[in-house]
Amino acid sequence: MKKYRIGIVGSGGIARRHTDGYRAIAGDLCEIVAACDINQETLDKYCEKYNVPLKFTNPEDLIESGEVDVISLLTPPAVRSEVIFPAFEHGIHILVEKPFAEKMSDAIAFVEAAEKAGVVLAVNQQMRFMPEMLKAREIIKSGEIGQVRFIAHDSFQNRTSTRGWRKDEERLEISIFSIHVLDRLRWLMGRPPEAVSAVMRSWDEEVRGETFTALTVQFEDGMMGTMVSNWHSMTIPECRLRIDGTEGTILLEKPGVGSDQCRLKVHTLGGDPKEYDCSRSNNSSLAMGDNMKNLIQAAESGTQPINSGRDNLETMAIVDGAYLSASRGGAKVGISEVWKS
Ligand SMILES: NC(=O)c1ccc[n+]([C@@H]2O[C@H](COP(=O)([O-])OP(=O)(O)OC[C@H]3O[C@@H](n4cnc5c(N)ncnc54)[C@H](O)[C@@H]3O)[C@@H](O)[C@H]2O)c1
Repeated sequence: MKKYRIGIVGSGGIARRHTDGYRAIAGDLCEIVAACDINQETLDKYCEKYNVPLKFTNPEDLIESGEVDVISLLTPPAVRSEVIFPAFEHGIHILVEKPFAEKMSDAIAFVEAAEKAGVVLAVNQQMRFMPEMLKAREIIKSGEIGQVRFIAHDSFQNRTSTRGWRKDEERLEISIFSIHVLDRLRWLMGRPPEAVSAVMRSWDEEVRGETFTALTVQFEDGMMGTMVSNWHSMTIPECRLRIDGTEGTILLEKPGVGSDQCRLKVHTLGGDPKEYDCSRSNNSSLAMGDNMKNLIQAAESGTQPINSGRDNLETMAIVDGAYLSASRGGAKVGISEVWKS
Protein backbone atom coordinates (compact mmCIF):
# COMPACT_ATOMS: atom_id res chain seq x y z
CA MET A 1 0.00 0.00 0.00
CA LYS A 2 1.18 3.48 -0.88
CA LYS A 3 1.62 5.71 2.16
CA TYR A 4 -1.09 8.34 2.61
CA ARG A 5 0.31 11.87 2.31
CA ILE A 6 -0.77 14.04 5.23
CA GLY A 7 -1.01 17.82 5.32
CA ILE A 8 -1.23 19.46 8.75
CA VAL A 9 -3.42 22.57 8.81
CA GLY A 10 -2.70 24.55 11.98
CA SER A 11 0.84 23.74 13.10
CA GLY A 12 0.47 25.18 16.62
CA GLY A 13 0.41 23.53 20.05
CA ILE A 14 -1.47 20.30 19.38
CA ALA A 15 0.24 19.61 16.02
CA ARG A 16 3.34 18.40 17.84
CA ARG A 17 1.46 15.68 19.69
CA HIS A 18 -0.35 14.60 16.52
CA THR A 19 2.94 14.36 14.66
CA ASP A 20 4.57 12.15 17.31
CA GLY A 21 1.45 9.98 17.50
CA TYR A 22 1.10 9.46 13.72
CA ARG A 23 4.77 8.55 13.44
CA ALA A 24 4.63 6.10 16.36
CA ILE A 25 1.31 4.39 15.55
CA ALA A 26 0.67 4.89 11.85
CA GLY A 27 4.19 5.42 10.48
CA ASP A 28 3.80 2.47 8.09
CA LEU A 29 0.56 3.90 6.68
CA CYS A 30 1.26 7.60 6.28
CA GLU A 31 3.82 10.39 6.21
CA ILE A 32 3.48 14.10 6.91
CA VAL A 33 4.49 15.80 3.68
CA ALA A 34 3.11 19.32 4.18
CA ALA A 35 2.06 21.86 6.78
CA CYS A 36 0.02 25.02 6.65
CA ASP A 37 -0.30 27.87 9.14
CA ILE A 38 -1.24 31.53 8.74
CA ASN A 39 1.54 32.33 11.19
CA GLN A 40 4.82 32.07 9.26
CA GLU A 41 6.98 31.77 12.37
CA THR A 42 4.88 28.92 13.79
CA LEU A 43 4.96 27.19 10.42
CA ASP A 44 8.73 27.50 10.02
CA LYS A 45 9.42 26.24 13.53
CA TYR A 46 7.14 23.24 13.08
CA CYS A 47 8.50 22.25 9.66
CA GLU A 48 12.08 22.58 10.80
CA LYS A 49 11.58 20.60 13.99
CA TYR A 50 9.69 17.77 12.27
CA ASN A 51 11.44 17.85 8.93
CA VAL A 52 8.29 18.52 6.92
CA PRO A 53 9.18 19.53 3.33
CA LEU A 54 6.20 21.52 1.99
CA LYS A 55 5.01 24.77 3.60
CA PHE A 56 1.81 26.75 2.93
CA THR A 57 0.49 29.90 4.55
CA ASN A 58 -3.10 29.42 3.47
CA PRO A 59 -5.19 26.23 3.35
CA GLU A 60 -6.48 26.90 -0.17
CA ASP A 61 -2.99 26.55 -1.68
CA LEU A 62 -2.36 23.34 0.23
CA ILE A 63 -5.69 21.87 -0.91
CA GLU A 64 -5.10 22.82 -4.55
CA SER A 65 -1.49 21.62 -4.59
CA GLY A 66 -2.49 17.99 -5.19
CA GLU A 67 0.24 16.99 -2.72
CA VAL A 68 -1.93 15.57 0.08
CA ASP A 69 -4.45 12.75 0.52
CA VAL A 70 -5.46 13.59 4.09
CA ILE A 71 -5.72 16.87 5.98
CA SER A 72 -5.28 16.90 9.72
CA LEU A 73 -7.25 19.98 10.73
CA LEU A 74 -5.73 21.34 13.94
CA THR A 75 -6.95 24.94 13.95
CA PRO A 76 -9.13 26.74 16.55
CA PRO A 77 -12.85 25.78 16.31
CA ALA A 78 -13.81 28.82 14.22
CA VAL A 79 -11.71 27.48 11.34
CA ARG A 80 -13.58 24.48 10.01
CA SER A 81 -15.86 25.05 6.97
CA GLU A 82 -13.32 27.09 4.95
CA VAL A 83 -11.02 24.06 4.94
CA ILE A 84 -13.47 21.14 5.09
CA PHE A 85 -15.72 21.94 2.09
CA PRO A 86 -12.94 22.78 -0.43
CA ALA A 87 -10.91 19.75 0.72
CA PHE A 88 -13.86 17.44 0.06
CA GLU A 89 -14.22 18.91 -3.43
CA HIS A 90 -10.64 17.77 -4.06
CA GLY A 91 -11.31 14.26 -2.68
CA ILE A 92 -9.18 14.86 0.41
CA HIS A 93 -9.99 12.94 3.63
CA ILE A 94 -10.07 14.88 6.90
CA LEU A 95 -9.24 14.19 10.51
CA VAL A 96 -10.57 17.16 12.48
CA GLU A 97 -9.67 18.06 16.05
CA LYS A 98 -12.40 18.33 18.63
CA PRO A 99 -14.66 20.21 18.84
CA PHE A 100 -15.85 18.79 15.53
CA ALA A 101 -17.80 22.03 14.93
CA GLU A 102 -18.92 25.16 16.71
CA LYS A 103 -22.51 23.93 16.55
CA MET A 104 -24.53 20.83 15.67
CA SER A 105 -25.93 22.18 12.39
CA ASP A 106 -22.38 22.74 11.06
CA ALA A 107 -21.37 19.23 12.10
CA ILE A 108 -24.33 17.74 10.24
CA ALA A 109 -23.42 19.74 7.11
CA PHE A 110 -19.81 18.44 7.27
CA VAL A 111 -20.97 14.82 7.57
CA GLU A 112 -23.41 15.14 4.68
CA ALA A 113 -20.76 16.77 2.47
CA ALA A 114 -18.23 14.00 3.25
CA GLU A 115 -20.74 11.29 2.42
CA LYS A 116 -21.66 13.03 -0.83
CA ALA A 117 -17.99 13.39 -1.80
CA GLY A 118 -17.19 9.78 -0.81
CA VAL A 119 -14.31 10.77 1.48
CA VAL A 120 -13.58 9.82 5.07
CA LEU A 121 -14.27 12.40 7.75
CA ALA A 122 -13.07 11.45 11.24
CA VAL A 123 -12.88 13.35 14.53
CA ASN A 124 -9.96 13.30 16.92
CA GLN A 125 -11.43 12.27 20.29
CA GLN A 126 -8.28 10.53 21.40
CA MET A 127 -9.27 10.07 25.04
CA ARG A 128 -11.58 7.20 24.10
CA PHE A 129 -8.63 5.16 22.78
CA MET A 130 -6.63 5.31 26.01
CA PRO A 131 -5.72 1.96 27.66
CA GLU A 132 -8.06 2.45 30.62
CA MET A 133 -11.00 3.02 28.27
CA LEU A 134 -10.18 -0.07 26.23
CA LYS A 135 -9.95 -2.07 29.48
CA ALA A 136 -13.22 -0.67 30.84
CA ARG A 137 -15.02 -1.50 27.60
CA GLU A 138 -13.59 -5.02 27.63
CA ILE A 139 -14.83 -5.56 31.20
CA ILE A 140 -18.29 -4.18 30.39
CA LYS A 141 -18.55 -6.39 27.29
CA SER A 142 -17.48 -9.49 29.25
CA GLY A 143 -20.51 -9.04 31.53
CA GLU A 144 -18.29 -9.04 34.64
CA ILE A 145 -20.12 -6.13 36.28
CA GLY A 146 -23.55 -7.13 34.92
CA GLN A 147 -25.80 -4.60 33.21
CA VAL A 148 -24.44 -1.04 33.33
CA ARG A 149 -26.94 1.40 34.84
CA PHE A 150 -24.99 4.49 35.84
CA ILE A 151 -21.73 6.18 34.83
CA ALA A 152 -20.28 9.22 36.58
CA HIS A 153 -17.29 10.87 34.90
CA ASP A 154 -15.86 13.91 36.68
CA SER A 155 -12.86 16.16 36.22
CA PHE A 156 -11.30 18.56 38.71
CA GLN A 157 -8.39 20.73 37.62
CA ASN A 158 -6.84 24.12 38.21
CA ARG A 159 -7.22 25.65 34.75
CA THR A 160 -7.42 29.26 35.85
CA SER A 161 -4.90 30.61 33.34
CA THR A 162 -6.80 30.44 30.03
CA ARG A 163 -4.94 32.26 27.22
CA GLY A 164 -4.93 32.85 23.44
CA TRP A 165 -8.03 32.15 21.34
CA ARG A 166 -9.62 30.18 24.18
CA LYS A 167 -10.21 33.41 26.14
CA ASP A 168 -12.67 34.59 23.48
CA GLU A 169 -14.59 31.35 23.03
CA GLU A 170 -18.26 31.76 23.90
CA ARG A 171 -18.44 27.99 24.40
CA LEU A 172 -15.47 27.10 26.54
CA GLU A 173 -15.50 24.44 29.25
CA ILE A 174 -17.62 21.81 27.47
CA SER A 175 -16.73 22.60 23.88
CA ILE A 176 -12.99 22.80 24.44
CA PHE A 177 -12.42 20.42 27.34
CA SER A 178 -15.18 18.24 28.70
CA ILE A 179 -16.31 17.23 25.22
CA HIS A 180 -13.59 14.59 25.78
CA VAL A 181 -15.24 13.43 29.00
CA LEU A 182 -18.70 13.36 27.40
CA ASP A 183 -17.40 11.44 24.40
CA ARG A 184 -15.96 8.82 26.80
CA LEU A 185 -19.23 8.65 28.73
CA ARG A 186 -21.21 8.06 25.54
CA TRP A 187 -18.63 5.61 24.18
CA LEU A 188 -18.91 3.49 27.33
CA MET A 189 -22.71 3.62 27.40
CA GLY A 190 -22.88 2.30 23.84
CA ARG A 191 -26.39 3.75 23.53
CA PRO A 192 -27.79 6.95 22.03
CA PRO A 193 -28.35 9.88 24.39
CA GLU A 194 -32.01 10.88 24.87
CA ALA A 195 -31.98 14.00 27.06
CA VAL A 196 -29.59 16.35 28.82
CA SER A 197 -29.84 18.84 31.69
CA ALA A 198 -26.93 21.15 32.45
CA VAL A 199 -25.91 24.08 34.60
CA MET A 200 -22.80 26.12 33.91
CA ARG A 201 -20.90 28.87 35.66
CA SER A 202 -18.37 31.39 34.38
CA TRP A 203 -16.08 31.90 37.34
CA ASP A 204 -13.15 33.41 35.43
CA GLU A 205 -13.66 37.11 34.70
CA GLU A 206 -10.81 37.11 32.17
CA VAL A 207 -12.57 34.73 29.77
CA ARG A 208 -15.81 34.83 27.82
CA GLY A 209 -17.12 31.29 28.22
CA GLU A 210 -18.08 28.94 31.04
CA THR A 211 -15.49 27.38 33.36
CA PHE A 212 -17.69 25.01 35.39
CA THR A 213 -20.27 22.47 34.23
CA ALA A 214 -22.54 20.00 36.02
CA LEU A 215 -24.80 17.85 33.87
CA THR A 216 -26.96 14.77 33.62
CA VAL A 217 -27.43 12.74 30.45
CA GLN A 218 -30.24 10.22 30.06
CA PHE A 219 -29.50 7.40 27.62
CA GLU A 220 -31.70 4.81 25.95
CA ASP A 221 -32.82 1.91 28.20
CA GLY A 222 -32.93 4.14 31.28
CA MET A 223 -29.14 4.37 31.61
CA MET A 224 -27.90 7.45 33.44
CA GLY A 225 -24.71 9.47 33.09
CA THR A 226 -23.49 12.45 35.09
CA MET A 227 -20.52 14.76 34.70
CA VAL A 228 -19.03 17.54 36.79
CA SER A 229 -16.08 19.46 35.37
CA ASN A 230 -14.56 22.20 37.47
CA TRP A 231 -11.65 24.32 36.21
CA HIS A 232 -11.39 25.97 39.63
CA SER A 233 -10.32 23.00 41.73
CA MET A 234 -7.27 24.77 43.04
CA THR A 235 -5.52 21.69 44.44
CA ILE A 236 -5.84 17.87 44.28
CA PRO A 237 -6.37 17.48 40.50
CA GLU A 238 -8.49 14.44 39.78
CA CYS A 239 -10.26 12.67 36.96
CA ARG A 240 -12.64 9.98 38.14
CA LEU A 241 -14.81 7.52 36.27
CA ARG A 242 -17.26 5.28 38.09
CA ILE A 243 -19.29 2.64 36.28
CA ASP A 244 -22.01 0.93 38.34
CA GLY A 245 -23.47 -2.29 36.98
CA THR A 246 -25.97 -4.73 38.48
CA GLU A 247 -23.12 -7.05 39.56
CA GLY A 248 -20.25 -4.70 40.34
CA THR A 249 -18.36 -1.45 39.84
CA ILE A 250 -15.40 -0.19 37.83
CA LEU A 251 -13.52 2.76 39.28
CA LEU A 252 -10.88 4.66 37.29
CA GLU A 253 -8.69 7.28 38.92
CA LYS A 254 -6.09 9.52 37.30
CA PRO A 255 -4.76 13.05 37.89
CA GLY A 256 -6.30 14.37 34.64
CA VAL A 257 -8.22 12.87 31.73
CA GLY A 258 -5.21 13.17 29.41
CA SER A 259 -2.66 12.03 31.97
CA ASP A 260 -0.32 9.08 31.49
CA GLN A 261 -1.05 7.65 34.95
CA CYS A 262 -4.17 5.60 35.59
CA ARG A 263 -5.38 2.90 37.98
CA LEU A 264 -8.50 0.86 37.36
CA LYS A 265 -10.31 -1.14 40.07
CA VAL A 266 -13.01 -3.72 39.51
CA HIS A 267 -15.11 -4.94 42.43
CA THR A 268 -17.84 -7.52 41.83
CA LEU A 269 -20.41 -9.00 44.21
CA GLY A 270 -18.77 -12.01 45.87
CA GLY A 271 -15.62 -11.78 43.69
CA ASP A 272 -12.06 -10.82 44.63
CA PRO A 273 -11.26 -7.13 43.99
CA LYS A 274 -9.01 -6.62 40.96
CA GLU A 275 -6.72 -3.72 40.16
CA TYR A 276 -5.04 -2.86 36.84
CA ASP A 277 -2.31 -0.34 36.09
CA CYS A 278 -3.40 1.31 32.81
CA SER A 279 -0.60 3.88 32.77
CA ARG A 280 1.20 4.55 29.47
CA SER A 281 3.81 7.12 28.45
CA ASN A 282 2.78 9.63 25.75
CA ASN A 283 -0.78 8.46 26.21
CA SER A 284 -2.56 11.34 24.46
CA SER A 285 -0.14 11.44 21.55
CA LEU A 286 -0.32 7.70 20.87
CA ALA A 287 -4.12 7.80 20.99
CA MET A 288 -4.03 10.56 18.34
CA GLY A 289 -2.05 8.11 16.21
CA ASP A 290 -4.92 5.62 16.69
CA ASN A 291 -7.33 8.23 15.33
CA MET A 292 -5.28 8.68 12.17
CA LYS A 293 -4.78 4.94 11.77
CA ASN A 294 -8.56 4.37 11.95
CA LEU A 295 -9.11 7.01 9.27
CA ILE A 296 -6.55 5.55 6.87
CA GLN A 297 -7.74 1.97 7.33
CA ALA A 298 -11.30 3.13 6.61
CA ALA A 299 -10.21 5.07 3.51
CA GLU A 300 -8.31 2.02 2.28
CA SER A 301 -11.20 -0.40 2.83
CA GLY A 302 -14.01 1.97 1.80
CA THR A 303 -15.67 1.75 5.23
CA GLN A 304 -16.50 4.25 7.99
CA PRO A 305 -14.07 4.52 10.94
CA ILE A 306 -15.29 4.15 14.54
CA ASN A 307 -14.29 7.79 15.08
CA SER A 308 -16.28 9.00 12.06
CA GLY A 309 -17.91 12.41 11.82
CA ARG A 310 -21.29 10.66 11.80
CA ASP A 311 -20.46 8.87 15.04
CA ASN A 312 -19.35 12.18 16.58
CA LEU A 313 -22.75 13.74 15.93
CA GLU A 314 -24.01 12.00 19.07
CA THR A 315 -21.28 13.65 21.15
CA MET A 316 -22.05 16.98 19.49
CA ALA A 317 -25.75 16.45 20.28
CA ILE A 318 -24.96 16.16 24.00
CA VAL A 319 -22.78 19.28 23.78
CA ASP A 320 -25.42 21.35 21.98
CA GLY A 321 -28.14 19.98 24.28
CA ALA A 322 -26.10 21.01 27.32
CA TYR A 323 -25.70 24.61 26.10
CA LEU A 324 -29.41 24.78 25.29
CA SER A 325 -30.34 23.39 28.69
CA ALA A 326 -27.99 25.80 30.50
CA SER A 327 -29.54 28.72 28.60
CA ARG A 328 -32.90 27.58 30.02
CA GLY A 329 -31.63 27.45 33.61
CA GLY A 330 -30.90 23.70 33.56
CA ALA A 331 -34.22 22.52 32.09
CA LYS A 332 -34.29 19.08 30.47
CA VAL A 333 -33.63 19.17 26.69
CA GLY A 334 -34.59 16.22 24.49
CA ILE A 335 -31.83 15.21 22.06
CA SER A 336 -34.41 15.06 19.25
CA GLU A 337 -34.82 18.85 19.64
CA VAL A 338 -31.07 19.31 19.11
CA TRP A 339 -31.09 17.23 15.92
CA LYS A 340 -33.82 19.46 14.51
CA SER A 341 -32.23 22.77 15.55
N1 LIG B 1 -7.38 16.60 21.57
C1 LIG B 1 -6.80 17.34 22.50
O1 LIG B 1 -6.45 16.84 23.57
C2 LIG B 1 -6.55 18.79 22.22
C3 LIG B 1 -5.70 19.53 23.03
C4 LIG B 1 -5.47 20.87 22.69
C5 LIG B 1 -6.12 21.45 21.60
N2 LIG B 1 -6.98 20.68 20.87
C6 LIG B 1 -7.72 21.25 19.74
O2 LIG B 1 -6.80 21.54 18.68
C7 LIG B 1 -7.18 22.72 17.98
C8 LIG B 1 -6.03 23.71 18.01
O3 LIG B 1 -5.65 23.96 19.34
P1 LIG B 1 -4.14 24.41 19.71
O4 LIG B 1 -4.04 24.33 21.19
O5 LIG B 1 -3.17 23.66 18.90
O6 LIG B 1 -4.17 25.95 19.26
P2 LIG B 1 -2.91 26.82 18.81
O7 LIG B 1 -3.38 28.22 18.85
O8 LIG B 1 -1.70 26.45 19.58
O9 LIG B 1 -2.66 26.38 17.28
C9 LIG B 1 -3.58 26.63 16.28
C10 LIG B 1 -2.82 27.07 15.02
O10 LIG B 1 -3.74 27.25 13.97
C11 LIG B 1 -3.27 28.34 13.18
N3 LIG B 1 -4.38 28.85 12.38
C12 LIG B 1 -5.42 29.65 12.75
N4 LIG B 1 -6.22 29.89 11.70
C13 LIG B 1 -5.69 29.23 10.64
C14 LIG B 1 -6.08 29.10 9.27
N5 LIG B 1 -7.17 29.69 8.78
N6 LIG B 1 -5.29 28.35 8.46
C15 LIG B 1 -4.17 27.75 8.93
N7 LIG B 1 -3.76 27.86 10.20
C16 LIG B 1 -4.51 28.58 11.06
C17 LIG B 1 -2.75 29.32 14.21
O11 LIG B 1 -1.87 30.25 13.64
C18 LIG B 1 -2.07 28.40 15.21
O12 LIG B 1 -0.70 28.21 14.93
C19 LIG B 1 -8.48 23.19 18.65
O13 LIG B 1 -9.61 22.70 17.97
C20 LIG B 1 -8.40 22.58 20.05
O14 LIG B 1 -9.67 22.36 20.65
C21 LIG B 1 -7.20 19.38 21.15
